[in-house]
Amino acid sequence: MNGTINGGDSVAGTASGHFPHQPVLYQEVLDALVPKSGENYLDGTLGAGGHAEGILISSAPRGRLLGLDLDPEALAIARQRLFNFQDRTIIRLSSFLQAPEILREIGWQSVDGILLDLGVSSMQVDRSERGFSFMDDGPLDMRFNQQVGASAADLVNTLSKKELAEIIWIYGEERYSRRIARAIVEKRPIHTTRALAQLIKEAIPEYAAHIHPATRTFQALRIATNQELETLSSALPGLVKSLKSGGRIAVISFHSLEDRIIKRFFRRESKDCICPPEQPVCTCDHVASLKILTKKPIRPTEKEIKENPRSSSSRMRVAEKLMNT
Ligand SMILES: C[S@@+](CC[C@H](N)C(=O)[O-])C[C@H]1O[C@@H](n2cnc3c(N)ncnc32)[C@H](O)[C@@H]1O
Repeated sequence: MNGTINGGDSVAGTASGHFPHQPVLYQEVLDALVPKSGENYLDGTLGAGGHAEGILISSAPRGRLLGLDLDPEALAIARQRLFNFQDRTIIRLSSFLQAPEILREIGWQSVDGILLDLGVSSMQVDRSERGFSFMDDGPLDMRFNQQVGASAADLVNTLSKKELAEIIWIYGEERYSRRIARAIVEKRPIHTTRALAQLIKEAIPEYAAHIHPATRTFQALRIATNQELETLSSALPGLVKSLKSGGRIAVISFHSLEDRIIKRFFRRESKDCICPPEQPVCTCDHVASLKILTKKPIRPTEKEIKENPRSSSSRMRVAEKLMNT
């Protein structure tokens, strides 16, 4: 594929379809990364390994893949799915933020393609004991790795009213953030998803939107619990440094906050000068390292949304590492 990538009308599907997470924009990811035999790929959010499997099939017989995920349960599923490719696959329990160190450890100087498919998988959302969903009752956890760090319950039960309102407002774009934060502080401790969802429902007026009243708050708490936006912002520069000249990075996001970070980063890295426009002479010494291949993000087709409604909010941006950078 040359030049700009447009949203495809290609058929979304996987080579093996019996895993609990259906990869989104599957064919579009393969069209963007153009995997080839002999090349090395990084899947920074391995999940159930659906995209990884596609990359390994397309890069047969000698393409290799490093797959990372923070969730040990996801990695167990991915190992099973990628069993037939084990001689070409390395799987590690890690954040994609640590990808440059891991690449050094395994002796890969750089990679030809990188995929980040951000957010949660169906395995995570559908298992009530992970605490991501307000549809079932479960512990208010929401961590990608349940062994590490503070859970959503820890945040809800310890942060101040002001801090909670800020999280719910900024990460959830929830207009009733202050009311919800006040209700949380009045009713805590809160330990379950159902208790929190019920409290939110009671705290805000009859909801005009078509979504469940707890949707935005749950999104906000998940983002805060896993420090998703900070991780993405901090990881992108290192990931792009790890790309070979001509290599591509594809990032799939599921909400506007993530998409904005990716868009701004790609835009900045595609410019030779990032001085303020009013400055007459360039003093920044910035050198462009990326060419943007998606002027607008690639969205799922109607067909994909019908087959997999969870794909509906996905969008993918793709960029290519410039030569000699
Ligand atoms: C949408 S799923 C990926 C699905 C995968 N592409 C597939 O085809 O099965 C997102 C995955 O990213 C993982 N994840 C989220 N943040 C991460 C991070 N900072 N580093 C590594 N994995 C992360 C989650 O645990 C989850 O398994």
